[in-house]
Amino acid sequence: MRCYVERFSSMLIKAVIPVALAATAHVGVVAADKPVFKHPIDGAPIEVPLKPGEAETPAVKEFKQTGTNVYRDNAAAVQGGKALYEQWCQTCHNADASGKMGPPLVGGQYIYPQTATDVGMFSIIYAGASGAMQPFSKRDVTQDDMLKIIAYIRSLDRKK
Ligand code: HEC
Repeated sequence: MRCYVERFSSMLIKAVIPVALAATAHVGVVAADKPVFKHPIDGAPIEVPLKPGEAETPAVKEFKQTGTNVYRDNAAAVQGGKALYEQWCQTCHNADASGKMGPPLVGGQYIYPQTATDVGMFSIIYAGASGAMQPFSKRDVTQDDMLKIIAYIRSLDRKK
């Protein structure tokens, strides 16, 4: 009898564990794959549609599918991001992103923890935060530009 119970429970474990593991793995893949963009102030998920007529570049497509900013390792894109940063961000965040009237964007100490990830920083650039940090989705800045700006800011962080 004991032998039967042991065999039965071991069969049960063999049958149940792979199913449970497969289910967890599946959930993990879904959660990791599709990035969720969130408003910094209330944490509510936000939609990040393109402007009418705005092209979805391969970098933007990849970012929305996986959360990976391919421009981080692209020297030309980082240079492009520098010019965009100087045009749109520098007055408030300083040339080296160490902060001025706006907070520092380097160094890892952020007002909004989501600034630490590219998806989180993108959400803030796109949707704005409070006060002077206005949504850049309403300005003449494309989502592709936002990815280049982020790549540039992260390159400043790596120099520290
Ligand atoms: C007119 C001034 C101004 C400009 C221009 C501006 N910002 Fe900001 N930014 C701010 C202020 C002020 C805050 C703080 C907002 C808050 O506390 O809610 C902020 C916050 C942020 C944060 C959150 C930082 C944290 O500590 O979590 C990020 C990221 C950010 N800005 C990125 C940018 C980028 C990138 C640009 C250019 C595309 C930009 N900002 C342009 C003023 C500005």
